[in-house]
Amino acid sequence: MNKEEFSLNPWEVVGEVNYERLVKEFGIKLLASKLPKQFQDNLLFRRGIIFAHRDFERILECVEKKKKFVMLTGLMPTGRFHIGHAIIAKQMIFYQSLGAKVYIAVADIEAYNARSQSLEESKKIAFEEYISNYLALGLKKENCEIYFQSNRSKNSEKSNAYYRLQNLLARHATFNEFKAVYGEISPGKMISSLLQASDILHSQLKEFEGKIPVVVPVGIDQDPHLRLARDLSQRIKDFDFIQVSSTYNKFIPGLKGGKMSSSDPTSFISLADSSKEVETKIKKYAFSGGRDTLEEHRKLGGNPDIDVSFQYLRFLFEEDDKVLQKIYNDYKSGKMLTSELKGIAIEKINFFLKEHQKKKEQARSKIKDFI
Ligand code: TRP
Repeated sequence: MNKEEFSLNPWEVVGEVNYERLVKEFGIKLLASKLPKQFQDNLLFRRGIIFAHRDFERILECVEKKKKFVMLTGLMPTGRFHIGHAIIAKQMIFYQSLGAKVYIAVADIEAYNARSQSLEESKKIAFEEYISNYLALGLKKENCEIYFQSNRSKNSEKSNAYYRLQNLLARHATFNEFKAVYGEISPGKMISSLLQASDILHSQLKEFEGKIPVVVPVGIDQDPHLRLARDLSQRIKDFDFIQVSSTYNKFIPGLKGGKMSSSDPTSFISLADSSKEVETKIKKYAFSGGRDTLEEHRKLGGNPDIDVSFQYLRFLFEEDDKVLQKIYNDYKSGKMLTSELKGIAIEKINFFLKEHQKKKEQARSKIKDFI
């Protein structure tokens, strides 16, 4: 596969993603560069890591006018929790700090149907890997509801409403539409897609929040789910849904370039990695934008845009724009060597992980308050 070619669907991303092409193909909009202050203060928005949206104006208006809204997103509990997952987690926490009601769907039905993973395994991974990390990263229990797709609520009215909606939505989707959106499709994937549509829409049911603006922050691979949910929400006349908003973030690169994947430990940094592991991974695997020889590097400079260590600083670990810009300039001019850039990344990541791992230990006991 050459550089121009890539394929992407909710279960697989292959090749180098061309974000501009996706914006056109999916019909999503680029985010305005001048967002309100709360958003500018957030690294992910400020640096264009969250780069595109559908109907996000509605959410900006809620924030501006201090009106209620919901943030809903979901996680598929497979494999290790890595720094790529932290990008969605940071958005949950950000919206919670803005006053949103946070809904988090643990997609254990999807993992069962699309990844052949048992419900027990999903439960274990969801708690040990995902939820405990969310808490350690700062998710609070106020205004937050985490649920499993296989077990929506102990309250039967709520639970019935969620599964009822999934079932009623089915009439409004066609098989061809599933095919057009997903390419290959199986009954299990269809069921999972309808359930994800119910995830996205059910907070607006009277059993939950009632009609309310909802924002769904996701990686861009999830857009087919959003298209389906949005289309269905307008076709089903039995309810009066407000069209859902969504934002799309770019993928943090895997260590060797390409997508970070929980199934390949040499592609990710886990939030549970030891400082020695981080050091080895960055030194050994992190794709470098440096030149082949020292002389060449000094003379021609490196390329921070493709350098994975630099990208980790940009996505997550260097909050200060000025410091980041200086690293960028020094690396590009050849003043900074790859070994020095990797050294900075290792130090920053390990500083963060040390604190984080302490918090994660403390978070374990709090998990049960959340479900
Ligand atoms: N399909 C998502 C994933 O693979 C998980 C998910 C389930 C989700 N329900 C959702 C994401 C609702 C966004 C909104 O990670």
